[in-house]
Amino acid sequence: MGIRGKFFAVIAIIGVVLGGATYAILERSHNSLIEQEAVRVAEIVSTQVVSDRAVYTQELVGKLMKDGVGASENSGENKGYIPLPAQFVRNVSKRVAQQAKGLYSYSLVSLWNLNPEQGLNDEFDRWAWKQLEQQEQAFATGPAVATGYAWKPVYRFETKNGKSKLLYMMADPAAAAACVSCHNNYEKQADVMALRNGRGIAPGKTFTLNGLMGALRVEVPIDQVAALAAEGRDRTLGALAAIFVIGFALLLWLIHLAIIKPVEWSVLKVEGFTSKIDAVVLCNKDLVQAADEQATACRGAQNVLDAGDIVATTRSLASLASVANDNAMRAEDSAVYCNDLNESFDDLKTKLQEIVQGGKKASSLFGVGKDGRAE
Ligand code: HEC
Repeated sequence: MGIRGKFFAVIAIIGVVLGGATYAILERSHNSLIEQEAVRVAEIVSTQVVSDRAVYTQELVGKLMKDGVGASENSGENKGYIPLPAQFVRNVSKRVAQQAKGLYSYSLVSLWNLNPEQGLNDEFDRWAWKQLEQQEQAFATGPAVATGYAWKPVYRFETKNGKSKLLYMMADPAAAAACVSCHNNYEKQADVMALRNGRGIAPGKTFTLNGLMGALRVEVPIDQVAALAAEGRDRTLGALAAIFVIGFALLLWLIHLAIIKPVEWSVLKVEGFTSKIDAVVLCNKDLVQAADEQATACRGAQNVLDAGDIVATTRSLASLASVANDNAMRAEDSAVYCNDLNESFDDLKTKLQEIVQGGKKASSLFGVGKDGRAE
């Protein structure tokens, strides 16, 4: 794999790891945020419902009772009476169901329900109710008498058919003596006993003050918020990917200009050296041979001089001069080659220094010529 291939592979790995990690972090933080928000909504809703009912009971029912009437299960048939607080809650919750369009919903429920619709109807109800009973047990055996404030809400998140929601249940204890006496009376009625028997629950339940009487059950769907969060997450990931790709493209471009191209140029230069060095070596061989020839010619001249042959000596000296001249020219050639080689080395050295210094001058980065040399 070439240097570019390796670079791309490393970038791709970094990209995948970075993308995956960002996705996981966003997903986790969004999920926990959504869940916290949903629980907050459930707290808000239950506070509102409980407060509405308390005001209804004290201000409305209380006033009417002073006036000689009050609240009645069959208020429709009794002149001057208004619905029971629990009926008021149920009526408002029905209105909310129409109005809120799946934003949230709630209802009062109980294991000992008087309204057949308000029993523990699903697995969550039974699971949460069991935990409320355990809390009541703890209160009963503990030093503190159960108070409305000590109860802890029980909740969990559920996903069914791809739709997620928070299921939340808060105890509705018998906070007043009136709750106890009225509900205890109902428990003795034949139709309520039949309802208990029909559900396999022991009839004749006796409530006590502050004991568990029922619960407020709140449902908060979170798939809409989750979809919005997923959209936000995808947008963030898209922006990150764009920044990542542009950033690395720039980096790659700089590396290409500042390192890869100059290095490639240097490699070409080094390849050129080989032929230049060959030329110098060849030239030097020639020089050695010429020096030999010169020595032979010298010896020839010496011989004919010793023999006293003036004419031959003159001729020998002339040829010696020509050989020496040839030699001088070759030596000059060799010097030129060596000089050339030296210059090339200097060039390469400068270039490599530039690469090492990371393109000291901006011009050497951006003014790289076709051969890769800084201009
Ligand atoms: C005057 C009698 C009366 C009083 C007082 C009363 N309730 Fe009820 N309660 C009822 C009736 C009747 C229902 C069923 C109403 C309906 O049809 O929704 C009911 C329903 C409920 C429910 C819903 C489960 C069910 O039984 O259907 C809860 C929980 C509840 N009451 C708790 C309380 C608490 C807590 C108090 C005191 C703060 C209280 N009630 C006071 C008569 C009473």
